[in-house]
Amino acid sequence: MYFAFKVQARVNFPCIQRFGFAVFRLVEHPVFVKKILPAIDQVSILDIGCCLGADLRGVIAKGGKLENLVGLELETDFIKLGYEFFGDADKPGMKNVFRHGDVLKADPFGGELADLKGRFDYVCLSFYYG
Ligand SMILES: C[S@@+](CC[C@H](N)C(=O)[O-])C[C@H]1O[C@@H](n2cnc3c(N)ncnc32)[C@H](O)[C@@H]1O
Repeated sequence: MYFAFKVQARVNFPCIQRFGFAVFRLVEHPVFVKKILPAIDQVSILDIGCCLGADLRGVIAKGGKLENLVGLELETDFIKLGYEFFGDADKPGMKNVFRHGDVLKADPFGGELADLKGRFDYVCLSFYYG
């Protein structure tokens, strides 16, 4: 409950009330199971609006390589809460997975996020209410 309140202090999304931030949904998706999972150690994924980062952490648990995964999130507090909730801030490479960014700004993959441009096999945009 504590975490739902902490996240809800930022926004009041229904998925947060239902603890959606703690569920590894992406790894259950048919495209993930059929296309991504068989090549899990080679596939690169960008998760736009990743919230606390549950979906990419599910991918990591299935064998995804940290260097192939990026979660982009508007709210820096969500990125911090994700490390706190999942307790993996000190895991080597984990700090590079989650990045602050606004996908709606003009040229979102210019500037600080330029290294992400054209880099991914799959882009995930799930429950995005931007
Ligand atoms: C409803 S949550 C969905 C989280 C996750 N994708 C899921 O499926 O559970 C939407 C997320 O998108 C983020 N978001 C909203 N506008 C954004 C923007 N312009 N750029 C990046 N992320 C954004 C929000 O902060 C929030 O974490």
